[in-house]
Formats: sequence, C-alpha cells, structure tokens
Amino acid sequence: MRQTLVAGNWKLNGSKESIEELLKGVLSGMSEVKSDVAVCAPYVYIPLVEELLKDTDVAFGSQDISMYESGAYTGEISGAMLTDFSCKFSIVGHSERRTLFGEKDADTAKKFAAAQKYGLTPILCVGELLEERENGTTEAVVARQLDAVINLVGVEALEKAVIAYEPVWAIGTGKTASPQQAQDVHAFIRSKIANLNKSVAEKIQILYGGSVNGGNADELFAMPDIDGGLIGGASLKADDFLAICQAG
Ligand code: 13P
Repeated sequence: MRQTLVAGNWKLNGSKESIEELLKGVLSGMSEVKSDVAVCAPYVYIPLVEELLKDTDVAFGSQDISMYESGAYTGEISGAMLTDFSCKFSIVGHSERRTLFGEKDADTAKKFAAAQKYGLTPILCVGELLEERENGTTEAVVARQLDAVINLVGVEALEKAVIAYEPVWAIGTGKTASPQQAQDVHAFIRSKIANLNKSVAEKIQILYGGSVNGGNADELFAMPDIDGGLIGGASLKADDFLAICQAG
C-alpha cells in the first residue's frame, strides 16, 4: 500500500501574517490526519515556514528550483540553497511554469535532476491542455513529459520522486477531472513506468491536482492509482486544506 500524500502549492499567495495563521491552523488539526502532508511556499517565506514547522509532521518544499547549481543566473534559487533551509520537496514542471514562463520538457528534466542531486524529492507535474484532451492526445502529451525526465535521469530515479497529474483545464477552474478520468491517466502513467521497472511503478506516489477540495477528495483518493493530491486554492485556508488531508 502506498502512503497518501497531500501537498499544498501556495503559488503566488501569502504574507508573513497569513502564513503564520494558516500553518497554526493546519498544525492544530494534524492529530486527525493519516496522510503525509507538505506545503510548497514562495521562496522568500521558506525560512519562516521552516521555523513554524520545526518538529512537526508537516513537511515543506519549494514551487520551483533552478536547473543551475551556482553562478551568474540572476533571480534563480538553487538546490543547495533550498536544502540549507531543510526543504524536502521541489515542484518541477508545474503547468504554470510551462505555459506562462515557457519552461520546456528538457528544462523540467534538468530541474528534476538538480533537485535530486541535493536530496530534494521532486514533485514532477504532468498534464494536458484542454485542446489536447479534446483532440485525444492526453496520453501522448503525458508520455512526452515523462520521457523527457526518464531519458535524462533513468527510470530508477523515479523511486525518489513524486508525480502529480494535473490536467491544465482543471487547475483553478473549479472543473475537476472525474475520479475515473483521473484514474485512467494515473493508470496509464503507472503502466508506462511499469514497462521499464515494475517495482518503481508500484512504489511511486502519483498525486492528482486540479480543483481538489474537501468535497471531492475522498472520491478521488479512493481510486486505486491516485495516491493523494497537489492542492492549489484549497491549500490557502486551514479548514479547507485539513478537510482534504483528512480524506482518503
Ligand atoms: P487548484 O487546486 O487551485 O486547481 O490548483 C491545482 C494546482 O495547480 C496545484 O499545483
């Protein structure tokens, strides 16, 4: 049995005050949570998050990572910097990085490798656009996004990684993929990995992301290949996030 993981992705949201209130709220409800829980904060708040989550069961991470280690790369944040603050996870290849900031499959793969080099667990996001779903290329798109990573680091590297399937049309739209739609893509991802390495495929946690909330998390997490969620909007309010963490 794979452990369920619920990770919050705060995106470009929060302030010192709101983050303190949010994390205090989340921590106060953790005794009823069986899932693993993590939050991915904007870079500047990571030291504050580290302090607030010290000696707790809530892990934390970044929303991105540089593919570079150090040097003349203005504005970048490296794996070494993140591990200096005890980060556990780095999201890589989020669709907002891909579609709004022009991140290519090959860039995502390099970021995945950079995270692992420093002992961070990459949360590799994959998922199709609405037009790709409508023209029947969902599996081809997800396969291409996965292959870019597997070709660079090898399938065994997925043993220390998490995958998040996030259909782009379901992100922030209130339009969740149905449990069966999500399950179909999760099963496709797992079988694709199993063709290369069965044991890695059995172990890897595949999260679903896209308008998950307290009302739909149970049904989604009950699907055999859905091992938790990557949560945007609903991770910004303690009660909403806790309701998801308590599901599954
Ligand atoms: P929403 O939960 O706001 O749809 O965002 C999902 C997401 O992009 C998490 O990374």
